[in-house]
Amino acid sequence: MGMLCLRSKILVVIVVLFAKLAACDDYDFTHNSFRGANLSLSGAAEALPNGLLMLTDMEKRQKGSAFHPTPLRLKNSSGGKVVSFTTTFVAGMVGKYPGVGGQGLSFVLSPSKDFPHALPSQYLGLFNMTNRGDPSNHLVAVELDRIRNPEFDDIDNNHVGIDVNDLKSVSVATASYFSDRVAGFENVSLLGGEGVQVWVEYDGAQARLNVTVSPLGLPKPRIPLLSSTVNLPEILLDETYVGFAAATGYMPARHYVLGWSLKVGGQARALDLSLLPSLPRTEPRGRPKFLTTGLPAIGAAVALLAVSAMVFLVRRRKKYADLIEDWEADYGAQRLPYKELFLATRGFRDTELLGAGGFGRVYKGILPTSKAVVAVKRISQESYQGLREFIAEVVSVGRLRHRNIVHLLGYCRRKGELLLVYEFMPHGSLDKLLFDQPSSMLVWGHRFRIIRGIAAAVFYLHEEWEQLIVHRDIKAGNVLLDAELNGRLGDFGLARLYGHGAHPMTTHVVGTLGYIAPELVRTSRVGRSTDVFAFGVFLLEVACGRRPIEPRAESERLTLVEWVLGCWQSGSILEAVDPNLGDDYVAGEAKLVLKLGLLCSNRVPALRPTMRQVTQFLDGDAPLPVVPPSSLSGGAVALWEGHGFDEIVLSNAGSSSERPFSRSSSVEEWVLSGGR
Ligand SMILES: *[C@@H]1O[C@H](CO)[C@@H](O)[C@H](O)[C@H]1NC(C)=O
Ligand SMILES: *[C@@H]1O[C@H](CO)[C@@H](O)[C@H](O)[C@H]1NC(C)=O
Ligand SMILES: *[C@@H]1O[C@H](CO)[C@@H](O)[C@H](O)[C@H]1NC(C)=O
Ligand SMILES: *[C@@H]1O[C@H](CO)[C@@H](O)[C@H](O)[C@H]1NC(C)=O
Ligand SMILES: *[C@@H]1O[C@H](CO)[C@@H](O)[C@H](O)[C@H]1NC(C)=O
Repeated sequence: MGMLCLRSKILVVIVVLFAKLAACDDYDFTHNSFRGANLSLSGAAEALPNGLLMLTDMEKRQKGSAFHPTPLRLKNSSGGKVVSFTTTFVAGMVGKYPGVGGQGLSFVLSPSKDFPHALPSQYLGLFNMTNRGDPSNHLVAVELDRIRNPEFDDIDNNHVGIDVNDLKSVSVATASYFSDRVAGFENVSLLGGEGVQVWVEYDGAQARLNVTVSPLGLPKPRIPLLSSTVNLPEILLDETYVGFAAATGYMPARHYVLGWSLKVGGQARALDLSLLPSLPRTEPRGRPKFLTTGLPAIGAAVALLAVSAMVFLVRRRKKYADLIEDWEADYGAQRLPYKELFLATRGFRDTELLGAGGFGRVYKGILPTSKAVVAVKRISQESYQGLREFIAEVVSVGRLRHRNIVHLLGYCRRKGELLLVYEFMPHGSLDKLLFDQPSSMLVWGHRFRIIRGIAAAVFYLHEEWEQLIVHRDIKAGNVLLDAELNGRLGDFGLARLYGHGAHPMTTHVVGTLGYIAPELVRTSRVGRSTDVFAFGVFLLEVACGRRPIEPRAESERLTLVEWVLGCWQSGSILEAVDPNLGDDYVAGEAKLVLKLGLLCSNRVPALRPTMRQVTQFLDGDAPLPVVPPSSLSGGAVALWEGHGFDEIVLSNAGSSSERPFSRSSSVEEWVLSGGR
């Protein structure tokens, strides 16, 4: 008896030790598919063979949850530092009828891995009538809620909320994401379409919880949707499980998680979107019934073998399948096989990711045949519209040769995807160096050389190449730096591809807000002068080290153009120069760049110089015309006072009693006389 007791004690000690060890696992995991994932499932939850994690099936009033098997520790054992963690997941919902059904899905931190007493429907499978609001729940959830419940003060039927022990959220917002294109939030439908990606970030030192959502496929928005003070160690128990829960009400739907990664004390690894299982359409799920109908075991095994061999072959084929159509026959030389790009980027591995731009992700690769180092841009391209013109343009750009233009080596097309292959630029894009590392190596000399280089490139496109090419999206983010820190213009024509309007994420205006010439808002007619406008904004950006629009800045500094103009009008234009440069710049050159930037971003297209004139000014071959800053007053550049386009167009109407250029006509005279 005593022996038995001792034994069981040892057993307990071992079990406790084991549990402690397990609890201390370093908590860094990534599921690009849930096939074979080790999760604690309950309710209707199931990891499907295709890799989807399904939380509810197509049943009414159902609930399901799935948790990582080991708990996360919020504080280490000596009561020291509170941990930080980040996580990202992709969630989706498929209703019986498109766009209808489902209650919601939550990311959950909880002391238990299942909720046997919880209710479905509006209780989201997390609470019941008696325990909701009770601090002893020790539960925090990020809800993606599809139903408006006045009972819980829900704001609408498509919201994201942070819930602390209750279904009344402590912080809530309509599901939306910050978009640099509109410099504001755009709505996104939760759990509809292809799914949404969610990022939850917790900073232990600041006790701050951030939640960001975006439509699947877009890079993570810069500004979170929710940012709230939530002191997790006070709310949760020290050991807390992390996972998901979902519930249905009277409208059945399947809730899915497509992928999930989490890391304690660092940045969760990015999900590889190309590996994620895709959401099924609204059809019911087909179970392979023949396996259960009692075929002889051998027959079944043979059939299975044959099927898996076929599946393997088909998959393999599909894995590398290119999409080639007749009209592309002429572009043979520029077509690269997908397999080659797949191998070059080591299967588009996260470790090869160079960055995610507005249009897609960029990977570094080494082409297997030529050993050339390249950057491969992956663009998801759902619409066919405009694609043909775009590829024609891509191919024509592929023939451009200019030392300040990023060479396009080729392209490849797959279903729903376009891949562009560029020469690799070791220093990445200029905006990163300008804005993310302020004390960087970009001294004035580099900046001036980059400006002159890009001016030469745009001039080449506008006047020297066999046909006019309008870039449409000149900005620091599209200028890349080669090994010698020369500026090279990249990303041709992408704005045009998206400008055709079939992409739901874009406005009808081509380009990037802040660089869009005001007349474009009304006419959407691009031309040389709209490029010149964007080039002007680019000049100011490089000289001032600031973004063209800083949405959170005080209103007087809202637009870079206005701010620089203000400095000039108050007699000290050099105050606008990037403070990171200190006194280390050539005053004459800086003045030239700033004034030229203002001239180019003139509100009136006809008053902007041509790129030929711009290069002459920058090369010192022609003096900058003497333009009193007052002649540029107000309306010249008073754009973007609000974030809506209507306001943009009308913004100068109320802000200045004078019509632009009414007082001085010197700019007009100068331009009309050909710039002399
Ligand atoms: C799942 O993880 C738990 C905790 O780490 C472990 O005890 C269990 O053996 C794992 N199960 C499988 C099938 O790997
Ligand atoms: C707990 O955290 C503190 C502060 O970060 C650290 O000094 C200590 O070594 C940690 N203890 C354990 C057991 O990890
Ligand atoms: C609500 O859930 C709690 C457990 O969290 C349970 O003790 C209680 O009995 C449940 N109440 C009802 C009405 O089901
Ligand atoms: C976004 O959604 C909210 C709430 O449903 C709605 O009030 C608002 O008008 C929507 N905004 C746009 C631009 O559709
Ligand atoms: C949360 O968002 C705020 C505001 O954008 C930001 O300052 C902060 O660094 C973010 N914290 C985390 C942990 O991402």
